This record gives sequence, C-alpha cells and structure tokens, in this order.
Amino acid sequence: MLYVGIDLGTSAVKLVMMQGDGTIVKMASKEYPLYFPNPGWSEQKPEDWWTGVMEGMKELLEGVDASQVAGISFGGQMHGLVVLDDQDQVIRPAILWNDGRTTAETDYLNNEIGKETLSKYTANIAFAGFTAPKILWMRNNEPEKFAKIAKIMLPKDYLAYMLTGVHCTDYSDASGMLLLDVEHKCWSKEMMEICGVTREQLPDLYESYEKVGVVKAEIAKELGLSDHVVVAAGAGDNAAAAVGTGTVGDGQCNISLGTSGTIFISSKNFGVDSHNALHAFDHADGKFHLMGCMLSAASCNKWWMDDIIGTKDYAAEQADITKLGENHVYFLPYLMGERSPHNDPKARGTFTGLTMDNTRADMTQAVLEGVTFALRDSFEVAKALGIKIERTKICGGGAKSPLWRKIMANVLGIPVDIPACEEGPGYGGAILAAVACGEYASVEEACAKLIHVIDTEEPDAELTAKYEARYQTFKQIYPALKEVFQHME
Ligand code: XUL
Repeated sequence: MLYVGIDLGTSAVKLVMMQGDGTIVKMASKEYPLYFPNPGWSEQKPEDWWTGVMEGMKELLEGVDASQVAGISFGGQMHGLVVLDDQDQVIRPAILWNDGRTTAETDYLNNEIGKETLSKYTANIAFAGFTAPKILWMRNNEPEKFAKIAKIMLPKDYLAYMLTGVHCTDYSDASGMLLLDVEHKCWSKEMMEICGVTREQLPDLYESYEKVGVVKAEIAKELGLSDHVVVAAGAGDNAAAAVGTGTVGDGQCNISLGTSGTIFISSKNFGVDSHNALHAFDHADGKFHLMGCMLSAASCNKWWMDDIIGTKDYAAEQADITKLGENHVYFLPYLMGERSPHNDPKARGTFTGLTMDNTRADMTQAVLEGVTFALRDSFEVAKALGIKIERTKICGGGAKSPLWRKIMANVLGIPVDIPACEEGPGYGGAILAAVACGEYASVEEACAKLIHVIDTEEPDAELTAKYEARYQTFKQIYPALKEVFQHME
C-alpha cells in the first residue's frame, strides 16, 4: 500500500509518497506566498495551502495506481491561528508561528496571569508565536471578526478538515496553543476562560497516529482515490520530523534547519524546564518532548543568498568558505525577533565585527555560524537541565549542506547523524499514516524498521575548541544589544 505525508511548511507544501516498506516513491512540492503586512507580522492564506495540497496531490498521483493509497497524514507548521465562521469560511489570513504582533497579549499572560500559573495549566509560558496570545490579539484588535469565530484550528488541521470534514487536532500540535494541559492531554478549562473561547470552538484531540476520518467522496473522486483512504491526525512539523528521523522513545535528539531552527529531545516521561525556556510538549509517538525553537534558521541563509547577494547557487557561495572556526564576523540571526531562549520579539539581526578585509564569503560563513551558535543557546539550556545529548540527527533544507552539517557538529561538539531520508516532516507524516492503517503496531516500531542513518559528521577536537572560543564571544553580543533593540522602530 501507499502512504502520503503532507509537510505543510512556511515556504511550500511538500508531499512525500511512501511504500509500506518505507521506500519513497515520489515527492512533489508547491510554493505559496508569505505576507508581512507590518514589520514583525507574518501571515498566510489557508486557501493557498489547500490549493497547493490539491495541486501537489495531483502531481504526486500522476502515473501511480491511486487505488493503492491507503492513508494520508501531516506534519504542519505549528501555532498558526486559523479561524472559520459558522459557514466554514476562513475569517482572516492565518497568523503564523513567526508572527511577533502579540507583545501586549504575551506580556498580559506572562505578567498578569503569571508564568507559574500558565506553566501549571499548560506546562508552558506564553511566547509571541503561540496560539493563545493570537486569540487574545484578535479579541482586542478585531472584535467583530473575533465574534464570528465558530472554529479555531491549527494549519495542518485545516487540511484534515478540508479532506474529511472532521474538526480535529493532535496532542503534539495542540501543545503549542497554550490551551492544552500537556501533562494530562486535555484542553485546559482555565486557559479557555482566559482566552474567551469555548470547548465547542476547539477541535477534538487525537494521538498523531490515530485515524480521524476518511477522505470525503467528492475529493476522493477528483483525485482518483478509493473511497476509504484513512486520514490520520498527524503532528506539528517538529514532532513529525522527529518521527521521520527516528527521534522517538527516550533521550533522542533531532535538529531541524528549516525556516525555523529547532532542537528536539524526545522523552518517555513528562518533564518541564523550570525556567520554561524550552517548550514541554506531547510527542507524536504518544510520549513527550522538550524543544527549543529559533524563528529564523535556514531562512537567514535564504534571505542572505536570495534577497541580499542575489544568487540561487548556495553551494558555489559555500565553496569559498575555507577558514572554519576563524571568522571574526558574527551574525545575530534574529530577523523575526527570537523565541528560544531569549523570548524577545524585538530582537533583530546584525552583523558585528566587520573589518575592511572581510569578504562576501566571511559574511556567508557568519550567517551559517550565527544560526548554529543560536541553536547552541538552546542546546546549553537542555544540558543545564542535566539532559545528556550525546549525538543528534539532522533534517530540513539547511541539513542538505555538508558545510553547515560540519559547522553544526563542531559548534555543538557532538556527532551529527544524517538519516537516509531528509524529508523529516513529510516522511514522518507518511509513517504516521502507515501506523494509523495498521501497517506497523506503533510509531516506535515503524521508526525502528524504517529509519537508517547513512552518514555521520564527527566533530574534530581542534575545530571544536576554536568554535568554543567563538561561541563565548557570540554569547555576549545579544545581551550587549538587547536594550538597543527595544527602542528600534
Ligand atoms: C515550533 C515552531 C516552528 C514551526 C515551523 O515551535 O514554531 O518550528 O513549527 O513550521
């Protein structure tokens, strides 16, 4: 049988078709626009996602026996607020995970409701990109639209809804709403009250690998699918990526270098970082995880390449980088503010330390290094909690660069394992669909059978020592500029 994983990303939707034995049969990708209507705001149209999915599905199914498709599932960009009215129409563009407009609402939640109370209700505190502050923002700034809300959902749940007519979400993605009691896996009555929403407006909760419904007859007909294709709830993209790289069970680590950058640590037991610098979320394998998320990772490199120096040949630019560990240019990657660990929507990007002899290659190198140093900040938080991270997997667009993988291994000082399939969330989504259809008894079993490491980037002692010194300098730059950022327009 065939399983389709839909990775609903920020720059594009990527679809992966997998055989039951894990072999990838085909992939398709469709881009859609991202809107920045004000500085720090970030929106997309759910209708564009749906168009991309239908076009991608048609491309994926071309030349394939569509009757063999047994299941579909998702890895979706997290935290985005999608709101529908009582006619199931989208009320406003989705407010995305990297949107920083909710400073007032986030401050209200963290300071007036209080971090301790929030953490007691949900295991997390408020971050600007989380869903609950966005709901409050709508209530404060768009009261007429807020009054029309019949259904609230997350980005990938809109796709599940369009495919099946079922209003659902999964625990991993719901964890990022700040409305879920993560430990007990139920909606928090207190948080619903604080946000002014009712249980009826929220979706039903499922495990990521559970069936939520089947593809509606008219869509099955349009795509040539059978009338019993199972749709599984799916997961937030980081949890799905963790499944796609085999980061399940206890104490495994995955790094994702996508538009965002995340460090994801799986855990069999529920646990909270006492400073809430890392997110404590449910995992798609039915257990838990801790995660640090930076808002601009591979997107910093894309911005630098595409928009600033104007090239699409990333490999050629990186070929000129030869002096690893010796760059005296530093880049702060906070182009959309920053989440982990600074929780500062007003943080901004900078190049620091430039001298007349610096080259374009030094600056490209600084961008790759700056993102990696910023991920190390979250890695350090995890280490301070006593978590031993001895090695990590890696996935996402940035992970395709051997140079960036080498920088990662040496900045973190641990081996970086490269899985055979780099399509983390899409592959993870396909695996979740296979589990929902009974092809595997559990997510852990599927991962044990399907995920293979094909290469490892080992850290080099000399280079790790050089990067250690550079990291100590990097660490001083944000605190030195923090106050200046607060007053920048
Ligand atoms: C995770 C987060 C991002 C998005 C990217 O908390 O906000 O990784 O999920 O799609």
